[in-house]
Amino acid sequence: MTYPYQINNIDAYREAYQKSIEHPEKFWDEIASTFVWRKKWDKVLDWNFIEPHVKWFLGGKLNITENCLDRHLATLGDKPAIIWESNDPEEHHRVLTYRDLHMKVNQFAHVLKNNGVKKGDRVCIYMGMIPELTIAVLACARVGAIHSVIFGGFSSQAIADRLYDAQAEFIVTCDGAFRGNKDIPLKNVIDDALIGCRFVKRVIVATRTRTPVSMIKGRDVWWEDEIKKVETQGNPFYEPEVMDAEDELFILYTSGSTGKPKGVVHTTGGYMVWTNYTFVNVFQYQPGQIHFCTADIGWITGHSYIVYGPLSAGATVLMFEGVPTWPDAGRFWQIVEKYKVDILYTAPTAIRSLMGFGLDYVKPYDLSSLKVLGSVGEPINEEAWWWFYRNIGKENCPIVDTWWQTETGGIMISNMAGVTPHKPAHATLPLPGVNPVLVDEQGKVIEGNAVSGNLCISQPWPGMIRTTYGDHERCRTTYFSTYPQSYFTGDGCLRDEDGNYRITGRVDDVLNVSGHRIGTAEVENALNMHNGVVESAVVGYAHDIKGQGIYAYVVYDGSHEDENLTRQDIIQTVSRVIGPIAKPDKIQFVSGLPKTRSGKIMRRILRKIAEGDTGNLGDITTLLDPGIVQEIKNGALV
Ligand code: PRX
Repeated sequence: MTYPYQINNIDAYREAYQKSIEHPEKFWDEIASTFVWRKKWDKVLDWNFIEPHVKWFLGGKLNITENCLDRHLATLGDKPAIIWESNDPEEHHRVLTYRDLHMKVNQFAHVLKNNGVKKGDRVCIYMGMIPELTIAVLACARVGAIHSVIFGGFSSQAIADRLYDAQAEFIVTCDGAFRGNKDIPLKNVIDDALIGCRFVKRVIVATRTRTPVSMIKGRDVWWEDEIKKVETQGNPFYEPEVMDAEDELFILYTSGSTGKPKGVVHTTGGYMVWTNYTFVNVFQYQPGQIHFCTADIGWITGHSYIVYGPLSAGATVLMFEGVPTWPDAGRFWQIVEKYKVDILYTAPTAIRSLMGFGLDYVKPYDLSSLKVLGSVGEPINEEAWWWFYRNIGKENCPIVDTWWQTETGGIMISNMAGVTPHKPAHATLPLPGVNPVLVDEQGKVIEGNAVSGNLCISQPWPGMIRTTYGDHERCRTTYFSTYPQSYFTGDGCLRDEDGNYRITGRVDDVLNVSGHRIGTAEVENALNMHNGVVESAVVGYAHDIKGQGIYAYVVYDGSHEDENLTRQDIIQTVSRVIGPIAKPDKIQFVSGLPKTRSGKIMRRILRKIAEGDTGNLGDITTLLDPGIVQEIKNGALV
């Protein structure tokens, strides 16, 4: 299979870009026509950014799994769709051809139906990185259910909040998950999440770690038993549910600047076209290549570049259960050698952490199969960029620095491997369909090059967020109200003299810790739940490996005897409320927070202190109690 819309030189990029901006409907009509639809759309696009109201391929009918599976059977049936590498290097890998994956998705679609799942129902998926996770995701899409995948690092409380928000009546999970030398008891976490929850009807549990789990009669069933029942029914084919292009495909929760994570909603047709188009063009995927995306399917990167983008393109994806540093820091490179990986897509935090272990972990492996390297999730610093380029790509592989977000569905700004030039630490150029604008604080558009501002997108693209689940107004206020007629990304950005974009990081109260988005307000809420915490303020600070670390200023009620133990207790509380990913790296006890007379915390000051930059804190005369600043400075943990 080749891709008629694959761009292979810079002039073709320029031409496609111009057409996509000037005639978006014609441009996307042609691309979408190469997919399998049950009924063609009546209209390509209908939109305004006021409500917002964005609809693509109106009236079109399809099932995304026919595009990811059925349409490949004749030509790629015996080719691997998923190569799965275990956490344990000694355990045998698994290969699922397109035919195998099709069969398993159909079987599990029957399982979902037999357990009462219907079109439009929300199914929460909380699993480790095993092929059954991809199977569960696709089976939901096949029956028309809306999946909400929750990353395995979230706590039961975080799961309960998400289950409640989506009113998800069904859960698919595992007994446990292996990650490095840890065995995470996923089903136990789910059980805790379900205490007092009355609306969840069914929990389907796949076996992985075979750790003891409680199975509640009438609610919990084993994946394997349910599959056996389907097998005895004979023909496993499941007639795909015919979906409208704008029917919801999934919800994925992500953090914002308020305390409550929001459910970003993506719909079927536009998301499919966007993930496929960006996959094929950014990575310049060639049939037969092995694409290794190291993300977890619990994040958008896994949804778009392990599942939907590659599979809709008939690609072979490598799915890895483990972590980059176990059993040692050569694990990624060993996998690259073992499977002759062509494309490696990973995160700057992983690169920085592996850099720290030195080249002795890289040298033993043959990395000559690599053709394209990719980076995602946070700005990649130049040092990490060059290390990746020289030591992994051997100066032969372009690095695609892909800027995008959960809300954008797929890659927005990136070079295209070998087609448009890369530039260290720059995401470079917008993809066709993406119209970025930089604006100042007043919303005035900043024209020209060698400028910086807040990054907005002024035109709709097929993969964009449609709403926040159950609360459209929140979608409007978060993304479409800061600047009129624009989607606001929350990122700051530079545009260099040649028009290349460089993302500088969030300009709102959102942290990016190891490429994971965490809202400061969310962490503060969790801190404040500890019984001794009166008040808290959280800021980010530069962290060598994580990109940003979490620095918490905590006003404590004074009753702690041992500061270190109290810190541990507080950290444990955050871990319980959100999950280990949100644990503060530093906790400083303070007697008060710097506040304005109107009660607003001056985070600017706290950020500077956390960075060790206390020389010039700016104007502090407007503070209610300027004296507190000196105390905080004196006790700073830097
Ligand atoms: O700040 C940007 C940063 O990650 C944010 C989006 O986070 P999330 O929705 O979790 O999605 C991560 C994976 C797509 C953005 O607002 N970000 C993502 N990619 C880059 C980046 N910052 C700089 N360069 C990137 N390539």
